[in-house]
Amino acid sequence: MTNIGVFDSGLGGLTVLKELSKKHKANYFYLGDNKNVPYGDKSSGEIIDLSKNIVKFLLKKDIDFFVVACNTISVVAIDELKKTFDKKFISITDEAVKEILNRKGDAFVMATKATCLKHGYKEKIQRFSDKKVYEKACPSLVSFIENGEICGKDLENDLKKYLDLANERKIENIILGCTHYPIIEKEIKKNLTYAANIIDPAKVLTRDIVFDEDENLNIEIYMTDVNEISQNMTNIIMGREIKIKKVSN
Ligand code: DGL
Repeated sequence: MTNIGVFDSGLGGLTVLKELSKKHKANYFYLGDNKNVPYGDKSSGEIIDLSKNIVKFLLKKDIDFFVVACNTISVVAIDELKKTFDKKFISITDEAVKEILNRKGDAFVMATKATCLKHGYKEKIQRFSDKKVYEKACPSLVSFIENGEICGKDLENDLKKYLDLANERKIENIILGCTHYPIIEKEIKKNLTYAANIIDPAKVLTRDIVFDEDENLNIEIYMTDVNEISQNMTNIIMGREIKIKKVSN
């Protein structure tokens, strides 16, 4: 039995869980801290403390290794998590960086404020290449998605604004640098005026991850706030009904 802990600030990491569980059988334990979402607007100290609480909860499930299915946590807190807990943590951002290095052209990274402020993507990509990396904080998107607003005029207006530079310069690669964004990938594409190569880090991670797989698939989803919207969104993202269990973190 391989027990994998997958976590995020909220619903976003379910896009990673969905991809992983489609291709790899294991015992997955997911925790979304949607009571405290968005992490992207918080200080590094707050993000580190909240992430440690998530890991402490998941450790009760006898976890073999963790998938940090949150770009913000991967960029801001993963080093602290590795120092504090004697476990393997796979970072979603490292997977996307590996992929972009194999692609032609520059990168436009859509991400949270905290991820952009730390230049999580930019520094890693430019350490190994001379690509130009444009970072765009998209602060309203996570709240739209957590509230179940995955289309509509307000979302579209903000997307147009966020994608302005990409459209203007026709930047070849767009990294969905927040796990919430694949949920609105269709809307993102709709608001691009050229054919960009869109990179979803969850797909890269799923393609490249190697571990001892089980014969059966088992998924448990925990969240710190359970309500009609979080349950509906979970069912939509996972493509089937999975009852969320409530945890007080
Ligand atoms: N989904 C998270 C990420 O990948 C962060 C969203 C948030 O809490 O701001 O960065």
